[in-house]
Amino acid sequence: MTSSRDKSRKILVTCALPYANGALHLGHAFEHLYADFWVRFQKMRGHECLFICADDTHGTPIMVEARKRNITPETLIAEAWKDHVQDFKDFQIEHTHYSSTNSPANRELCELFFDHLKKKNHLVVKTIQQLYCLHDKMFLPDRFVKGECPKCGAKDQYGDSCDVCGATYTPADLKSSYCVVCGNPPVTKDSEQLMFKLNDFRDYLQSWLPSHLSKETANKMMEWFQEPLRDWDISRNAPYFGFQIPGYTDKYFYVWVDAPMGYVSATKEYCEKNNLSFDEYWKSEKSEVYHLIGKDIVYFHTLFWPALLQAADFRSPSAVWVHGMVMVNGERMSKSRGTFLSARTYLKHLDPMYLRYYFASKLSNGIDDLDFNLEDFTQRTNSELIGKITNLASRGAQMLGSKLDGVMSEPDSEGLELIERAQKKSVEIAHHYEQRDFGKAIQEIRGIADEANRYFDEKAPWKSLEANPASTKQVLTTTLNLFRLLAIYLKPILPEYTKKVEVLFKESDYNWGSHSVILKNHQIETYQHLATRIDPVKVKAMMDATKKELEERAARDSKAGFVKGPAVASASAAATTPAAGRNSDRPAEITIDDFSKVDLRVAEILEAEEIKEADKLLRLKISLGPLGERQIIAGIKAAYQPETLRGRKVLVVVNLAPRKMKFGVSEGMVLAAGSGGSDLFVLSPDSGAKAGDKVK
Ligand code: MSP
Ligand code: ZN
Repeated sequence: MTSSRDKSRKILVTCALPYANGALHLGHAFEHLYADFWVRFQKMRGHECLFICADDTHGTPIMVEARKRNITPETLIAEAWKDHVQDFKDFQIEHTHYSSTNSPANRELCELFFDHLKKKNHLVVKTIQQLYCLHDKMFLPDRFVKGECPKCGAKDQYGDSCDVCGATYTPADLKSSYCVVCGNPPVTKDSEQLMFKLNDFRDYLQSWLPSHLSKETANKMMEWFQEPLRDWDISRNAPYFGFQIPGYTDKYFYVWVDAPMGYVSATKEYCEKNNLSFDEYWKSEKSEVYHLIGKDIVYFHTLFWPALLQAADFRSPSAVWVHGMVMVNGERMSKSRGTFLSARTYLKHLDPMYLRYYFASKLSNGIDDLDFNLEDFTQRTNSELIGKITNLASRGAQMLGSKLDGVMSEPDSEGLELIERAQKKSVEIAHHYEQRDFGKAIQEIRGIADEANRYFDEKAPWKSLEANPASTKQVLTTTLNLFRLLAIYLKPILPEYTKKVEVLFKESDYNWGSHSVILKNHQIETYQHLATRIDPVKVKAMMDATKKELEERAARDSKAGFVKGPAVASASAAATTPAAGRNSDRPAEITIDDFSKVDLRVAEILEAEEIKEADKLLRLKISLGPLGERQIIAGIKAAYQPETLRGRKVLVVVNLAPRKMKFGVSEGMVLAAGSGGSDLFVLSPDSGAKAGDKVK
């Protein structure tokens, strides 16, 4: 990967464009830190590396949020942009250019792409049924409608995908749907939409995918090719906040069309302002282009996006890098549990350096989730960054400055050997950085710190200070040279910290080559404090503040009149009885006849196994006694270890039509309570109930 041809590398890195409907959270910080580490490393190596991003400003969530706050979408996205840019800056994340998808350059680009699609016949007009709210007089796009997932039956799912089983569908497929704005059930209405014939690119994508994705992600994506690729609806009906489709007055580009174009239009803006060649990035293979994204948006980036680029004669990315999700204390960040930590709240309480170090130390280039465990974060950062690394400088430099004359001498032969060994590590560490295996890079760096500490403790310079200042100086010289190397190797992760180290050694602008220098007979600055330990009190204060903010926010939202659940059956009742009104979670009423259609039975779980390729699913084999055995695919993986389910009696809906899912047929539904994810509790009858018994 890193050879002499590297000399001329031109690289473009992007992060997924954060939605402008809200504040940045820890997951966003994570993704941009990840990219920032890599970009800074490349720059230290002397490469040209642009780091481009933008806010994703269009679509329904933006409209929903603007309505909620009673401001225009334009005001909303302007405020979000300012906040996002400030948050990133305060995390020491250095974008080359941070733009917005609501820009003239992006509109122009969208129209250009659209032209290509039209001319090359990749579009088709289809009449599809869409949900329409008679009360609000509008078509209800994906996020304006909630209801029961058509696949697994989970409640309160958005119109595009199910949080519980991961199924994707259209809003019209939802059961018992309701309008998010007013809570009333919508009607279906015909509507003409423009579809992109993704299947035209089937062969192209099938050969493109495996060589541009990690193996694990590519394998998952290849499953899409078992069937023809579905047409993709690229239009949305007015009212919509976005770009109008040329030739239509009431149709807009779906936000996922203009969002990835933001990668290209933002690059264009930057190149034009700085006299760089845009074509070198997006029209030729002279440069490398990398998209870094979370595993929730792989589909868009590896099917639609390369197809669109191909259709419009742009180059495709060199690779799409996919990462896992940040969890907090082992669970998905959750607003209701108070673990949805915003970037700003972190910054108010703690130095970004800690998080940069912690994330880097836990990061690999795979798609495993990364747990932000508060205790581990505090303990690990304190013991490594402060205890192992910073202490070398504070002890060594203070002793040299205050007890001696502040001038480094020369390491003795043992010291020299240590330093040279640490210098040689640069190759391995660089390799890990290049591979985005930051955790391994940190591990190597930590190894050097361990050796330096061992050396320092063994030589115990504080003991020899008086009797033998010359040899003491040699020990300190070795220790400080080792520390200097650590700071150089850590620079991509801890740029501000390393800047202070540069000052300490009266140097500047360390690059990767700086590691080949050994400081000898060198005057250093008076030691200025580099970093303090994380105070657990502050960590607690941060989490308390998070809970409070989330509660306040929920209270505001409910005042703003946004329904969390469907309105009660009669709209007039909702208006007159406040207790059962718009914010009530009470579901719509059904008749006894409706209920008796559901055949509920006791079942015994015979086997339970994890479906490796799915995040949320377990495969269950159940016995219904005299009714026989069945397979059920249940979205309860996050809540149960399969082995704990075996032998357990549960309640099952047995007369649901069997559903063919990606991983097999599911012939029923297990009842569970809870909000979803790990917060799910399978319902069980008392021990006397037998498999097959009817629930009455
Ligand atoms: N706007 C789209 C992306 C359009 S790209 C052309 C979007 N925005 S987002 O704000 O929801 O997410 C932005 C990025 O943050 C995504 O890559 C997403 O995976 C990532 N993350 C969101 N939550 C996350 C965690 N909890 N952990 C790590 N990354 C997460 O999707
Ligand atoms: Zn409505």
